[in-house]
Amino acid sequence: MSDHNKGIPSAVLAVLIVIGSYVLMRFVAEPPLPSTLTNFFMMFVIAGVIIHITLEDQRIEEFLDFISFRSSLPIIWSTLRVAVLVLLPVFIAYNVYSKEKVTYSPPGELFQPHVTPPQWVVDLKVPEWAAAPDKWDAKLIEEGRIIYEDNCLPCHGKEADGKGPVAHAIRYPAAPTNFKEPGTIAQLPLAYVYWRVRDGGIFDKQFNSAMPGWGEELEDDEMWKVIMYTYHKAGVKPRTWE
Ligand code: HEC
Repeated sequence: MSDHNKGIPSAVLAVLIVIGSYVLMRFVAEPPLPSTLTNFFMMFVIAGVIIHITLEDQRIEEFLDFISFRSSLPIIWSTLRVAVLVLLPVFIAYNVYSKEKVTYSPPGELFQPHVTPPQWVVDLKVPEWAAAPDKWDAKLIEEGRIIYEDNCLPCHGKEADGKGPVAHAIRYPAAPTNFKEPGTIAQLPLAYVYWRVRDGGIFDKQFNSAMPGWGEELEDDEMWKVIMYTYHKAGVKPRTWE
């Protein structure tokens, strides 16, 4: 290959596209994508790049030229070539490392907190005074606050953000829920939350979590009030069954 002044070598472009897409998905995208999804998209990006390069013989040649050192390139490209050949393994190694690295909280994919509820939960009739968030009585919410601060605060925190005084000791299989996170109670119907609060996680092992059940500790209406307060404090609304 001789004519290398026509632009960025395709190998450099390919690597830039792959790394660029990864950085975009991993660090720029809002809300952050789960890593399984990022990897899934990356498969397409890489497949696209490979298809593009292998579509024309000339592109294959150029690509091989670039990575094989068999051509002499202008100094900036040959420097870049070395950089790319070093960066690529580093990039892959980083990826493998960050996958294998031991972390305190288990990956979200492994812990599935929102199990399908039993039928009685789906059929449950929420007491009228608790059913409509817009009509919740401030006095009942205040009663819920006292129940919350007595029972739930140690784990779920004064601000309902999962940062209670003992929260750091509970990490497995899931940390105490930050109720302000959109993926938690905001995504759950009242009856579901009632079930979670009543039966907890240890009960029957159905949630495989450190969340205690409150069915024996609290009266029914106390559980409803504490649920109302939890939503109120977190500033979110329950979902309705669809
Ligand atoms: C010993 C610590 C602890 C205490 C005390 C505690 N929780 Fe939890 N709670 C957890 C943990 C850990 C989780 C996350 C694991 C899970 O979802 O089961 C959780 C999850 C939840 C969830 C499920 C959220 C979701 O998105 O699925 C609700 C609702 C909840 N707690 C409400 C309460 C209420 C109300 C109280 C007080 C009556 C309370 N918790 C007291 C530890 C605790």
